[in-house]
Amino acid sequence: MRLLVLGGTLFLGRHVVRAALDRGHEVATLTRGVTGSPPDGARALHGDRDDAAALPAALAGWAPELVVDTSCQTRAAARNAAAALGDVRGYAFVSSLNAYRNWPPGPIRGEDEPVWETDDDEYGPVKAFAERELAAVLGDRFLTARAGLIVGPHDIVDRLGWWLRRMARGGRVVVPDALDQPIALVDARDLAGWLVDVAERGIGGAVNATGPAGMTTLGGLLEVCREVTGGDADLVPVPEADLVAAGVEPWQDLPLWLPREVAATAWDVDTTRARQLGLPVRPVRESVADTWDWLRDAGELAPPPRGLARPGLDPDREAALLGLRR
Ligand SMILES: NC(=O)c1ccc[n+]([C@@H]2O[C@H](COP(=O)([O-])OP(=O)(O)OC[C@H]3O[C@@H](n4cnc5c(N)ncnc54)[C@H](OP(=O)(O)O)[C@@H]3O)[C@@H](O)[C@H]2O)c1
Repeated sequence: MRLLVLGGTLFLGRHVVRAALDRGHEVATLTRGVTGSPPDGARALHGDRDDAAALPAALAGWAPELVVDTSCQTRAAARNAAAALGDVRGYAFVSSLNAYRNWPPGPIRGEDEPVWETDDDEYGPVKAFAERELAAVLGDRFLTARAGLIVGPHDIVDRLGWWLRRMARGGRVVVPDALDQPIALVDARDLAGWLVDVAERGIGGAVNATGPAGMTTLGGLLEVCREVTGGDADLVPVPEADLVAAGVEPWQDLPLWLPREVAATAWDVDTTRARQLGLPVRPVRESVADTWDWLRDAGELAPPPRGLARPGLDPDREAALLGLRR
């Protein structure tokens, strides 16, 4: 079928393009042409989806039957897609658990929990608005995948990647002492293939598109990072109170770490529907090892998308924290 990927040059979008090509679709991507080209085999269409005229102009009569939307970050982008693509047979949209009013910290018991209805331009409210706007036009041909943490090769958000490089450098590595806190993740390749699949099947509704609650812990994930990078790192757990006192920001300075009271429920997300609909759960070790294989050859990474700051703890700050613990 003719499948349009909104996005397609970066992380998740690239994997969607590959999955769609592997399944024999005729694939086009729509991007501004700012962040490079999609994988070979896809037709690269260009236009700014925030501009109402751009999508129809770029399509120029090419009528997609399926859409996978990885790039919606504004209200205008959602409105314009709803206006131009309302006739497709299946539309799979990449949303976020942030669409829920109560996430973080959660827990999220199912897909019926309330989503944001405010009209500000924060990430979660915009995703929730986009879901409503597109569902109003597409009805049950619209599926929204509320993703949590996405990992895997080509990830330039670089949260897992930072830990991998840090572990590879070895020596004493500051880690939060909250190593038993749960964490769930989804591999971008699994999510991508599944998005194509649900679009093909014309499945609708909301899906919590992440790994199952209890799949691993922060400590489990960091141990795998240590092992796949050679095992020379010496993890030094630092009490959360000391990290906070030193101004170390959870999730940003020490990626993937959440404050204890948030972590207690944030990954307690009911993913029953995702499992019923066949979203795979790849072994954590495979995701981590493949990310490391990619990262070693990736050279200098492009800046994180959407104006996100590069995550990670500055070596001087880490040394100061370690100095405190001699
Ligand atoms: N990373 C996570 O852990 C996580 C978690 C939950 C949800 N998500 C969601 O997952 C998706 C990730 O997508 P991704 O990995 O493929 O990366 P992305 O950084 O969101 O990719 C953006 C893509 O869209 C294109 N684009 C950006 N602005 C555009 C515009 N105005 N008009 C047309 N195209 C535009 C970019 O190309 P150009 O720059 O060339 O235009 C690029 O191909 C996002 O929707 C994100 O919100 C991510």
